[in-house]
Amino acid sequence: MNLPRVLLTGATGRLGSTIREDLSERWNISPVSGSGLMGTEAFDLLSLKDMEQLLKQDFDLIVNTAAISEPSKCLLDPVKSWRLNTLWPRRLAIHCSAQSIPMIHFSTDLVYSGGIPPYTESSPAVPASLYGWTKLIADRFVLNRYPEALIVRTSVLCGEVNSTRTTFSQDILAGRVRNVYVDCWRNHTPIHGLAGILPDLLERSFSGIQIVAGKYAQSRSAYAEELLRNAGKDPSGLILTYAPPHTPSKLHLRGRTTLLQLNG
Ligand SMILES: NC(=O)c1ccc[n+]([C@@H]2O[C@H](COP(=O)([O-])OP(=O)(O)OC[C@H]3O[C@@H](n4cnc5c(N)ncnc54)[C@H](OP(=O)(O)O)[C@@H]3O)[C@@H](O)[C@H]2O)c1
Repeated sequence: MNLPRVLLTGATGRLGSTIREDLSERWNISPVSGSGLMGTEAFDLLSLKDMEQLLKQDFDLIVNTAAISEPSKCLLDPVKSWRLNTLWPRRLAIHCSAQSIPMIHFSTDLVYSGGIPPYTESSPAVPASLYGWTKLIADRFVLNRYPEALIVRTSVLCGEVNSTRTTFSQDILAGRVRNVYVDCWRNHTPIHGLAGILPDLLERSFSGIQIVAGKYAQSRSAYAEELLRNAGKDPSGLILTYAPPHTPSKLHLRGRTTLLQLNG
């Protein structure tokens, strides 16, 4: 059986590396990244030349996980963030629409203000961060250019990954992150569950914005405590703290597709 040829951008990242690991028996994946590490091919998606070179190739599906995915990093380089998080997905949507290729792109719960939960696919979005704005405008651009595209809106990614980056749960379990917010609720999302459900969403012809996230919202501190307890570790080393001003607080998601959290 011929597997569908899939272009996967961001293949060294948390989600990209997980998709590659979990779906390579179902998809014939061409993994690309900025660095070219981990057996991926290097394409700089900020370079017009690289972008056009990449899109010359034939694919049956394009999955875009490339992003500046951390709000603090967006602030360090707003122009780069705008170009990668917003203009690149727009370019991709124009390409996929012209070629009639299915496209999956990822969005974030940080497009919402966190003031009026719960959030569904049709809730108004007003981001509190530059990162949130780059992602929200990308969602609008993509759907404007290609309404059939699938935009998966998710929350804090958790679980074991073999990436150049680590997830929140890996950082907690390894003791790299000890400060956890007591006043910030997120739908911590099992990253392997998210990767694994993508073929199913495509088979069911899902399109537009779809929230796919952990089933329940938990405060970051409650999640971290439960995670450590489930792993047989002592949570007393966590430092319970309040989030800085303007951090979205109640980002409870109530989307159509929920994933069971590994630790409750
Ligand atoms: N992480 C989360 O908790 C979370 C939560 C909600 C939504 N999301 C969304 O989910 C998606 C995946 O996030 P993630 O956490 O997996 O991202 P990530 O780990 O930060 O990975 C980002 C990827 O983008 C690539 N990249 C960066 N600059 C590039 C460039 N100029 N050209 C080509 N590739 C470039 C990186 O490649 P190199 O490093 O090799 O250069 C890396 O593979 C994003 O759309 C993000 O907004 C993430």
